[in-house]
Amino acid sequence: MSLLEVNDLHVEFHTRDGVAKAVNGVSYTVDAGETLAVLGESGSGKSVTAQAIMGILDMPPGKITGGEVLFQDQDLLKLPREERRKIRGRKMAMIFQDALSSLNPVLSVGYQLGEMFRVHRGLSRKEARAKAVELMDRVRIPAAKERVNDYPHQFSGGMRQRIMIAMALALGPELIIADEPTTALDVTVQAQVMELLAELQDEFNMGLILITHDLGVVADVADKIAVMYAGRIVETAPVHDLYRAPAHPYTKGLLDSIPRLDQKGHELNAIKGLPPSLLAIPPGCAFNPRCPMARDVCRTDEPPLYEVGEHRASACHFWEEMLDAR
Ligand SMILES: Nc1ncnc2c1ncn2[C@@H]1O[C@H](COP(=O)(O)OP(=O)(O)O)[C@@H](O)[C@H]1O
Ligand code: SF4
Ligand SMILES: [Mg+2]
Repeated sequence: MSLLEVNDLHVEFHTRDGVAKAVNGVSYTVDAGETLAVLGESGSGKSVTAQAIMGILDMPPGKITGGEVLFQDQDLLKLPREERRKIRGRKMAMIFQDALSSLNPVLSVGYQLGEMFRVHRGLSRKEARAKAVELMDRVRIPAAKERVNDYPHQFSGGMRQRIMIAMALALGPELIIADEPTTALDVTVQAQVMELLAELQDEFNMGLILITHDLGVVADVADKIAVMYAGRIVETAPVHDLYRAPAHPYTKGLLDSIPRLDQKGHELNAIKGLPPSLLAIPPGCAFNPRCPMARDVCRTDEPPLYEVGEHRASACHFWEEMLDAR
């Protein structure tokens, strides 16, 4: 039994311009202690999938039109609102990209961290404050005791992101979803925050879903990767297999566009074109207008997610060619 099992999830947005099919049959699993990286360009449905799992999707305009979200074998989509609210924070927590807009600017960091313990655990103000300091220490904020009364804007971006991690960890969740947690940070700080997150995850044996558009930052921490395109998973694989031999042209395109130290000064091989509008996903393979390998069949037949190896799947008609090319 997996900690989390998402099965064939579908999410739509009803907008003035039509129906945006944001998530079209996503399935993935996360075990305790495991890190799943969800990768894809902006607009591929990564965050919407996460919001549906967490129960924080804007409904309307969003609508879950199918699928299951099994958490510890219980389908969260069938739970009453109040039950879901209890699971949020306590059993699963989320870390967002932008700590400044997720934290309350007029309350001290210590108050906000302490609030978790007062509201959910019934601790006194003093006990909660002590817990807040303990958490700030855990995420290695220097001089936590002296800084507990500071406000969010008094911390650097990297320190604020650590505070977000502390908030997420407060109630000892079993699953953390981190949505582009380091995207707003500079590269050195990114690595430090990512390392901290990985270390805490390991220590508490939590499941972690790490959403990112940057393959570079997840290579060292992820166990497996799910690549999303136009609301679908187009490839899943253990992280090393995916790096060594991508089985989907889109994944290869993402890999080729990672800046490499040995190619300084060279132009990056970015994938040409843009992702499709979710109001009008191309027929056949959604990637076909941008795919260097596309053939006639790609414009008419949608590729299923083929099993292409142990724990590996690819939604490309020509996955064998991809793997043979290596
Ligand atoms: N609140 C919303 N209202 C309408 N459409 C939305 C909303 N949120 C997301 N979408 C649609 O879902 C698509 C996928 O969004 P998202 O999951 O945030 O992408 P990303 O992969 O960048 O996280 C968007 O491109 C947009 O079309
Ligand atoms: S199915 Fe065709 S268009 Fe889609 S990724 Fe494979 S080769 Fe490219
Ligand atoms: Mg997003």
